[in-house]
Amino acid sequence: MKKVRIGIIGTGLIGEVHIQAFNKHPLCEVVAICDMNESRLREMQATYGIPEVYSNQLEMHEKCSLDGVVIATPDQYHREPVLIAARAGVDILLEKPIATTVEDAEAIIHAVNTANVKLMLGMTLRYIPEYAHIQQQFQKGELGLPINAYSRRAVRKSEGYRLNGRCSVNEYLGVHDIDFLLSIFGRDVDTVYSTSGNFEIFDKLGVADYYWNIIKWKSGATAALQVTWNEPEGNKNLLEMECYVNGTKGSAHVNLGGQQLNVATNTYCDYPELTLDNGYHIEADHFIRCILTDESPYAGGQAGLDALKIMIAAEKSSKEGLPVQVKL
Ligand SMILES: NC(=O)c1ccc[n+]([C@@H]2O[C@H](COP(=O)([O-])OP(=O)(O)OC[C@H]3O[C@@H](n4cnc5c(N)ncnc54)[C@H](O)[C@@H]3O)[C@@H](O)[C@H]2O)c1
Repeated sequence: MKKVRIGIIGTGLIGEVHIQAFNKHPLCEVVAICDMNESRLREMQATYGIPEVYSNQLEMHEKCSLDGVVIATPDQYHREPVLIAARAGVDILLEKPIATTVEDAEAIIHAVNTANVKLMLGMTLRYIPEYAHIQQQFQKGELGLPINAYSRRAVRKSEGYRLNGRCSVNEYLGVHDIDFLLSIFGRDVDTVYSTSGNFEIFDKLGVADYYWNIIKWKSGATAALQVTWNEPEGNKNLLEMECYVNGTKGSAHVNLGGQQLNVATNTYCDYPELTLDNGYHIEADHFIRCILTDESPYAGGQAGLDALKIMIAAEKSSKEGLPVQVKL
């Protein structure tokens, strides 16, 4: 069977994770990588034995007859590679957030719809088994209707310094939880209230150290999301993530810093053993299935645009100190 031909654009931190995940997949082959940074390209080619390297995306598309691309360039440089890939007719796995402006996000959605290619957003929580388990419990109705949630995502300060002020911690981390919460609570959002704190990271890089985001749905349900890149370097976990969702029939709580998942109703409490799976190979597998079959991405352009609108409202709210109405 002919293998699915994948190209990866942007071979930085997460681009390398994608190279590893797709390289291991039995049905696909990473045939090309593309980056503007020549030395990084050569390093990745040598480490992972990638056949072709390019500094020009158009040339890669012309020469490689790809089936799919992974786009892992910085947030503000998502639009151009998507438009180029859509014109080349290949399916796209695009890193989150979809873009940094609604205009770019809409251009991305228009391009993939016009070209009739699939767009899958790298919303990783959809693929981390514990988070996926919680979502499925709500989807199946086991835990009733979601009414209240708390979510937390935190990285060490060095991640903030690595990104050097090029994005907010909401864009970098919060988008994952926003997408996850929307996937459970739905799109009928009423308001977003957000407050941020300016400490060490703000003083050095000009972006807030943390955000508390409160999302309220028209149903009256509420979620509070804390995101920070102010964790000390001594924390053994590079990334901490926790989520509690309370429903009318039960609740679920995962804490991947404290290594715990439990799901409870009035009649049972389930403590499945943690997989400690980062989900990237499951995400890669889903993208390959989307290319090979009529399966649809879990999070597509609309989900990306919804999460972006929430983040933009959160930014406005944190500046103005008032809740911001949101229409998704
Ligand atoms: N899903 C996740 O868990 C996760 C984790 C980290 C980052 N991300 C997202 O992935 C994207 C990349 O983040 P990162 O931390 O890997 O960034 P990075 O800075 O480590 O790497 C980005 C790479 O893209 C290259 N690049 C920039 N513009 C390019 C272009 N036009 N053509 C080709 N290459 C180009 C850079 O040279 C660099 O090597 C961002 O959107 C980020 O939000 C997602």
